[in-house]
Amino acid sequence: MEKRLLLIDDERPILEVLGISLAAEGYEVFTAESGYQGLEIFEREKLKLVVTDIKMPGMDGIEVLKRVKTLNPEAEVVVITGHGDMESAIAVLREGASDFITKPIKEEALLLALRRAERKIEMADLIKQYTLGLEEKVAQYKRELELAQEELLKRERLATIGETVAGLAHYIKNILNALKGGAYKVNSGLAKSDRRLLEEGWQMVQRNIERISQLSLDLLDFSKERVPDRTPCDPRSLVQEAASIIQPLADENNVELRLHLEEVGEAYWDKRGIHRVLVNLGTNAVDACRFDPERGKRFVVAMSLGLEKSPSGEERIVIEVSDNGSGMDEETREKVFSRFFSTKGGQGTGLGLLLSKKIVEEHGGQISFDSTLGQGTKFKVVLPRGSRL
Ligand SMILES: Nc1ncnc2c1ncn2[C@@H]1O[C@H](COP(=O)(O)OP(=O)(O)OP(=O)(O)O)[C@@H](O)[C@H]1O
Ligand SMILES: [Mg+2]
Repeated sequence: MEKRLLLIDDERPILEVLGISLAAEGYEVFTAESGYQGLEIFEREKLKLVVTDIKMPGMDGIEVLKRVKTLNPEAEVVVITGHGDMESAIAVLREGASDFITKPIKEEALLLALRRAERKIEMADLIKQYTLGLEEKVAQYKRELELAQEELLKRERLATIGETVAGLAHYIKNILNALKGGAYKVNSGLAKSDRRLLEEGWQMVQRNIERISQLSLDLLDFSKERVPDRTPCDPRSLVQEAASIIQPLADENNVELRLHLEEVGEAYWDKRGIHRVLVNLGTNAVDACRFDPERGKRFVVAMSLGLEKSPSGEERIVIEVSDNGSGMDEETREKVFSRFFSTKGGQGTGLGLLLSKKIVEEHGGQISFDSTLGQGTKFKVVLPRGSRL
């Protein structure tokens, strides 16, 4: 460390004697005969170590100490006090002097005080560098983290688009194959004048046209942020309507469909959207029964409607759809709400639940489920009643 110091004393002989002995210790010594002159040198030379006499005409040592500390709080000041002048000694320490020595000055005492002051300066420097380094590191890590996050988002978006396109292509190919199969049957029916074949083929074609138009509707719903088109509606009739659509599929597969509908009053929902949710949940439930490997079970799908209080005391409408079908394994439970996740092969797009969730959330509601493999599944939709708007 640089050994430079400022010595202030109004008595020239003392300045000279101390100057010489400190120079002999390797210090570069600046001297001043008054506080004012001292402060000027202190600033000009950017010094950090000051030794000043306390009793001086004009500006005294305590004032010098105060000003030095204001100019540079990291500078250290050793004050020379009169012999036995404890009051001044205490005063200078209180003002932040690093040390005091008494007159007559003993060289060892001065050197010791200087060394202690230098140590303080060194420590302060070290701490400062350390904190600066830390701050810089934190800032650098933060920058790196932000970059990594941006990169991740970009990649996720790309991956999402990629997955979406891949899932779509797969599903559309399925539909096209089915269409081709239908067209083939129609052709053979025509060639062989086989009316039954013709009808079968034509039905296949129609079913798949329906599938592809449903898909494009779903994709439209899915790609837009929509504000629900709210109109007054009766939740009971919404559930009943959805049930009537699922009923044929349930009958075909020997699934009993049960309804438990409480009176819940009027709601303000997007009818088409909630209808879509209920039909999908119901279809999923019947599917879970018809795809259940355990045959011979008495399959039941139940749809219920009721009221519930939210933790904040608000009344909400609850719709539950439960089945005692296949249930889900852990992987399925984790992925049900992901796009294009379907365990139904060509028979499902895997958009149903994702869309349902989107619609329910657009209504300010929540969708959740509970499912055990081999035992069944219960989906729960909680919706605020909503208001005209
Ligand atoms: N009630 C249920 N029981 C068991 N598994 C279910 C149930 N509901 C959903 N799943 C699982 O979640 C998957 C995703 O359901 P989702 O409704 O999103 O798509 P999907 O029914 O396969 O196709 P679609 O887009 O035609 O609805 C299903 O393929 C099925 O594996
Ligand atoms: Mg579905």
